Amino acid sequence: MKVVLSPERTGSDEIPAPAWVKNRKLIKWVAEIVALTQPDAIHWCDGSQEEYDRLCADMVASGTMKRLDPKLRPGSYLALSDPSDVARVEDRTYICSEKQDDAGPTNNWMAPAQMRETLNGLFAGCMRGRTMYVVPFSMGPLGSHISQVGIELSDSPYVAANMRIMTRMGRAVFDVLGEDGEYVPCVHSVGKPLAAGEKDVPWPCNATKYIVHYPETREIWSFGSGYGGNALLGKKCFALRIASTMGRDQGWLAEHMLILGVESPQGDKHYVAAAFPSACGKTNFAMLIPPRGFEGWKVTTIGDDIAWIKPGKDGRLYAINPEAGYFGVAPGTNVSTNANCMASLASNTIFTNVALTDDGDVWWEGMTKTPPAHLIDWQGRDWTPEVAKETGAKAAHPNARFTVAATQNPVIDPAWDDPAGVPISAFIFGGRRSTTVPLVTEARNWVEGVYMAATMGSETTAAAAGQQGVVRRDPFAMLPFCGYNMSDYFAHWLKLGQSMAASGQSLPHIFCVNWFRTDDNGKFVWPGFGENMRVLKWMLDRVAGKADGVEHLFGTTPRYDDLSWTGVEFSRDLFDRITSIDTAAWKQEIALHDELFGRLEQGMPPALSAVKDQIAKQLAV
Ligand code: GTP
Ligand code: SPV
Ligand code: MN
Repeated sequence: MKVVLSPERTGSDEIPAPAWVKNRKLIKWVAEIVALTQPDAIHWCDGSQEEYDRLCADMVASGTMKRLDPKLRPGSYLALSDPSDVARVEDRTYICSEKQDDAGPTNNWMAPAQMRETLNGLFAGCMRGRTMYVVPFSMGPLGSHISQVGIELSDSPYVAANMRIMTRMGRAVFDVLGEDGEYVPCVHSVGKPLAAGEKDVPWPCNATKYIVHYPETREIWSFGSGYGGNALLGKKCFALRIASTMGRDQGWLAEHMLILGVESPQGDKHYVAAAFPSACGKTNFAMLIPPRGFEGWKVTTIGDDIAWIKPGKDGRLYAINPEAGYFGVAPGTNVSTNANCMASLASNTIFTNVALTDDGDVWWEGMTKTPPAHLIDWQGRDWTPEVAKETGAKAAHPNARFTVAATQNPVIDPAWDDPAGVPISAFIFGGRRSTTVPLVTEARNWVEGVYMAATMGSETTAAAAGQQGVVRRDPFAMLPFCGYNMSDYFAHWLKLGQSMAASGQSLPHIFCVNWFRTDDNGKFVWPGFGENMRVLKWMLDRVAGKADGVEHLFGTTPRYDDLSWTGVEFSRDLFDRITSIDTAAWKQEIALHDELFGRLEQGMPPALSAVKDQIAKQLAV
């Protein structure tokens, strides 16, 4: 329901709301934000298909999106962002807890009162000339005990449309909320008010950006960006940063993890959860197609980016995917690396910052071996392979994304939206490392596994603004997403292991992987994608106590003959290259662990320091 506000409106608690919104606190809050931001109209989202279609049609009319060819890509659209607004902005992301110590040394911090003052200034009148969308959403199945409700107020129709795909969004959320239900308030503005008669730009945004979280009061404020992780506030802001603090307080975990199911030809089924940093392979691993030699194996997807994990009554850990869609990396995706993903994107998809073909379809680097002869690139300019060869210009932005409903995934797991979640047999941690880190290592115990995850390094990618390809520590792939002090987060993981062990549970095994070792020419040595199944099977066999390996400095790795090679040519020599442990490189690596521990000194669990000392001692001899 859309209501145009009269400019003469006075009083901050008078706001027209549909009859189906019964929550007085919510209406009062919306009125307050309206008074602050002064939009021209309010649109209460009902989540219907008609509403989505209208939002998209309006964005096509305004130039924000193009409709793709209805035969080639039915129900799909292309949005090209402003060239400055293409990724998450970690240096503009804040955790505003009362005490700086609670945010810890890895998060930007500002005192809440000071931040509120700054934001009140920025948000004053920032929605003038625009419509404010009231976007009700549930992270997790609607009405489930595990789920959390949020309301995002945004002046971006792109955000409203994407939220409908990424979350359970719509009128039913207001029903769940009832008269006095709790919700996480999320305020978002692109930060570009329009003067009377001013023509809008296709992708409004602001050079000043703030992505702000108040963990104590569980509020999110985002200003200046329309890009996914900065603007779709249910995702990283709520389901990771705010939810991680809920998990700390209530004894559960909110993780940057995919969840997949794997079933053997004999019908044994396991679920594993894997944390890889942004643009390091979660979506691809979650939709893996077993390669030749693995006939009869099935891999199914529960989620591709975020997992909420809670101890069940039986003491095991159960995971749910709080999202309802995938906001995935387009470049590199093709029918041979990920046919399931390509099938998901056949229709009803919003593409952002990919290239447009002359016949009204999309293209990105890596989609086909031979690029089309002519394209419109992600900045709306003519692009040809010849010119690109000279200039290196990319047709699609390296962080170009698709937004698609999870239900379009041909290998979605039958339990993907079961509120009870699925039991986790193993955790996998993996970074993008061209050197040093071997293909796969199993931790010998929980503490060692937590240490591996805590010290994980990865080369930075285009998913975040800033320099790319530099190794940084990315503990648990959560460096940009942990809503509290990282040392406390490590302690939380250790405590969870202790309490599970105390209740007599066998803990999930913990593994560390690296698909990204390169040769002297910078080419990936490991074929990756579907072939990662070979490593996955070894891990499951380890869980079942059926597979062998060798112990080394910091865990157990498979020998060549411990993996199954049926259906692929991969020599012992190549295997050695991606599993070798170079002592000199590991001495440097441990120095980087040291640096991290130094930074996190306050509150660092002694058990982890003990693991580090042990490795350092062994390296010294
Ligand atoms: P976020 O959505 O940013 O959290 O990323 P993600 O972890 O889901 O990454 P995604 O699966 O989208 O992969 C990112 C990039 O890595 C894509 O270009 C993939 O083609 C590439 N990639 C994924 N898996 C592999 C692999 O096994 N080997 C190699 N070489 N590349 C991979
Ligand atoms: C990531 O950067 O890890 C993503 C994309 O999954 S975003 O939603 O932008 O955070
Ligand atoms: Mn992610």
